[in-house]
Amino acid sequence: MTAPRKILVTSALPYANGSLHLGHLMEYIQTDIWVRFQKAQGNECYYVCADDAHGTPIMLKAQQQGISPEEMVAAVREERIVDFADFHVEFDNYHSTHSDENRELASLIYNRLNDAGYIAKRSISQLFDPEKEMFLPDRFVTGTCPTCKAPDQNGDNCDKCGATYSPVDLIEPKSAVSGATPVLKDSEHYFFDLPKFEPMLKEWLRSGSIQAEMANKLEEWFEQGLQQWDISRDAPYFGFEIPNAPGKYFYVWLDAPIGYMASFKNFCDNNQVDFDAFWQKDSDAELYHFIGKDIIYFHSLFWPAMLDGANFRQPTNVFAHGFVTVNGEKMSKSRGTFIKARTYLDHLNPEYLRYYFASKLNSGITDLDLNLDDFGQKVNSDLIGKVVNIASRCAGFIKKRFDGKLSANIDNPDLLAEFQAAKPAIIEAFEGREFAKAVREIMALADKANKYIDDKAPWVTVKDENLQQQTHDVCSMGINLFRILMAYLKPILPAMAKEVEAFLNDELTFDGIDAPLQDHSINKFKALMQRVDMDKVANMVEDSKESLQAAEETKPAVTGPLADEPIADEIEFGDFAKVDLRIAKIISAEHVEGADKLLKFQLDLGGETRQIFAGIKAAYPNPEELIGKLTVVVANLKPRKMRFGMSEGMILAAGPGGSDLWILEPHEGAQPGMRAM
Ligand code: MSP
Ligand code: ZN
Repeated sequence: MTAPRKILVTSALPYANGSLHLGHLMEYIQTDIWVRFQKAQGNECYYVCADDAHGTPIMLKAQQQGISPEEMVAAVREERIVDFADFHVEFDNYHSTHSDENRELASLIYNRLNDAGYIAKRSISQLFDPEKEMFLPDRFVTGTCPTCKAPDQNGDNCDKCGATYSPVDLIEPKSAVSGATPVLKDSEHYFFDLPKFEPMLKEWLRSGSIQAEMANKLEEWFEQGLQQWDISRDAPYFGFEIPNAPGKYFYVWLDAPIGYMASFKNFCDNNQVDFDAFWQKDSDAELYHFIGKDIIYFHSLFWPAMLDGANFRQPTNVFAHGFVTVNGEKMSKSRGTFIKARTYLDHLNPEYLRYYFASKLNSGITDLDLNLDDFGQKVNSDLIGKVVNIASRCAGFIKKRFDGKLSANIDNPDLLAEFQAAKPAIIEAFEGREFAKAVREIMALADKANKYIDDKAPWVTVKDENLQQQTHDVCSMGINLFRILMAYLKPILPAMAKEVEAFLNDELTFDGIDAPLQDHSINKFKALMQRVDMDKVANMVEDSKESLQAAEETKPAVTGPLADEPIADEIEFGDFAKVDLRIAKIISAEHVEGADKLLKFQLDLGGETRQIFAGIKAAYPNPEELIGKLTVVVANLKPRKMRFGMSEGMILAAGPGGSDLWILEPHEGAQPGMRAM
């Protein structure tokens, strides 16, 4: 036996500004399975995480809720600690980046970097909200795209044409915080001199067994050339003040990964574990970070460089994973596939999800699709139909006929040996984060166990007085095979494994696989897991749609159409049905003598012609361009006598008014006279 390995494992620290969803959970479940596996191998393994508490979004969200950021972070923490526990994600410590340990470690690392000459200062010009008196991160500036002129685009890239730019280039930029027009303002910023670490990072890249996809990304970044990294933010900011730099704060991403150390420090102090043995330069402990593919840059460039510059060890490896999609698409609030941890738990057993994720996870960074139909089928067919089925077919006879005691005989030693011999391959798959492969191996064994029981048909032999010994041996064999499968599955299904341990009167371990239970008393078998009920899956999706409405109500008060004109009070369908909307073709559109806002339209409603006046002249200075186009009109609006004649309906248009008005136009194929509902 080799000496136990010392292993420190982390998952990314989730931002403390909202509920956990199934996308997050994939990462924590993946990491938890790996950690449980390492512990089951007898390694000294610790799993730490924390809330990522700092930054502008968290500060602003707390402001909107009228509470302090500390209060908001505390509330979020309370919620997610329970969510994690209910999904059986078992941290050795869950801390916060807004902690004393993190403040001290961040200062220590910064001071070391500064002393070694890795911190530069220079003034930069940035958009500043004069009303809120704060500098604006890119995502808090909106405006018109400089490339395609699409309105309401984000500060760094355009949704419409995909252009990327600096928020300074936006046309008519607006602060998303106050609506004010931002101004350019200079301020001194602190930079971490990343380019100085290029040789060290290249060496780190070569030395480790980094994921191929990550190595490719790194190569690309090296080719583009590394840049100095802006690590400071000006007050007001929720974070730690930089030592000897009043009013300057660490950018959230500087102290976030240090939060890994801080959480572990907090753990070590409470549990007499040697912190330095894990973090000092020549440490023989292993250090692994599980992260999503969106944050590779921070973990494979900034973080190793910061550690190196501050004279700490390097991560042994960084394990990135892909993103969760649901039913083949990005999680969507309107489709009800943006599923929160709690909404899932309200309807379904957490171990279904642990098993499903495990059955699809590998060591790569491709996205993982949670197909809800497939999810139900796979869990039912594998866990209920295969694994639980073995025990439920054998346990009853042992209890009723054989006094609850397993036979002293091994009925089929070859089959037992086959189950035991699978261990190295399954261990290798778990170790290499090839969980899907481990699950495939385990399910192939489950098929063999079921075939064995089918062939031996104990429900038939039990009726024959002369075949009692055989029946006993076969059922005992079945229970032993089940026991091995559950030992392999224990990192994935810890709660079910616990119930199986109570049933078997035995602890499930990887070592125990080598020694089958013989002449051993077991307990009464209870149903271990219910089938996935697809109605419950559907209800969960429905509830996820509802929780969006609740979320909308507490949404930050951004400016924009919804803020300018909130959605009107709810109406009954009958009220809506009274409004008769019809497709109409524009026959003529012209200016009206003496009217400075109105256009006069003749519209064909599919046989009937209507005259309508609309106050949209500023938006359509050349109305003749509208002739021949289709639009939508309110056809049963009471006619109104105007100075220039009767208006017999209303054309639908959207926009704040003046030159910013846009007439609605139906998709191709609609015909004049059709009713719109
Ligand atoms: N706070 C940073 C991490 C700091 S680590 C020093 C952060 N937080 S996060 O809440 O946005 O994301 C936490 C983790 O969840 C990240 O690793 C992220 O990639 C992962 N995921 C978030 N949404 C996800 C999916 N839809 N699918 C899979 N993982 C996802 O980033
Ligand atoms: Zn654009």
